Amino acid sequence: MREYTDKEYIELVEKTADPVLQKHMQTETKEILRVETPQDKTFIDLGAGHGRILLTLAKIARNVISIELNPDMLPELKRRTEQFDNAEMVVGDMTKLSEILKDKDVKNPVLLLLQNTLGTIEGEWKKVLSEMKKVARENYGEIIISFFRSEALSSWGVLKLYPSVSKMVGEPDLEKTDFEKGVFVSKTGYSSKWRSKEEIEEIKQFFQGELVNEIWTNEFCVLHIQYRRPE
Ligand SMILES: C[S@@+](CC[C@H](N)C(=O)[O-])C[C@H]1O[C@@H](n2cnc3c(N)ncnc32)[C@H](O)[C@@H]1O
Repeated sequence: MREYTDKEYIELVEKTADPVLQKHMQTETKEILRVETPQDKTFIDLGAGHGRILLTLAKIARNVISIELNPDMLPELKRRTEQFDNAEMVVGDMTKLSEILKDKDVKNPVLLLLQNTLGTIEGEWKKVLSEMKKVARENYGEIIISFFRSEALSSWGVLKLYPSVSKMVGEPDLEKTDFEKGVFVSKTGYSSKWRSKEEIEEIKQFFQGELVNEIWTNEFCVLHIQYRRPE
């Protein structure tokens, strides 16, 4: 389990002073707000953390399902979830997404995998992508997924982002960090995979759906994909 706690995540990430991380979060939010007729859709936040995005989602959504595994993130997620009648928290493993959703109230799902969560997943990341594709495809849903780009791991990641969150993840270990492969490793053993342009393009191809939008900066990428109902 990675060393996140809800309190540290709020202090170091949600309230970050890093302009790139701020822009990343704003870009994700902007894309979420582009979703059409959100009042008719179920937003499913995979690896919801402490519920950073919950207020935005609950205000616009038909309903929200937040899935989170780490017990240290749950107190704040629970507190935030309880503020909304249309929000539900599930303590579960996103690699088992379709099973989790079997008895849930899901309509026109919008699956969210934010803040490079794909790079730090507990479990098999490819399984998460196939589960997302299956659920979104079968239900004519949407996917919004964001990545940190490996091209920026040395300039932004190791020099700015990770030092700003070192209290939570540990100091960068430059001997173990693999810039070629985009794998950050800290001295406490925390790791995170950042993805290259080619790897992100491959994931886009894997999903196959219609590309609603893609936002690329030097440091991150946000993809929005939709599986439309046949006319
Ligand atoms: C990088 S944090 C992002 C948190 C949140 N999505 C946000 O944007 O603020 C990734 C989160 O995913 C959770 N996570 C990792 N693997 C998971 C899994 N297999 N099932 C459910 N949650 C998982 C972690 O515990 C962590 O809270």
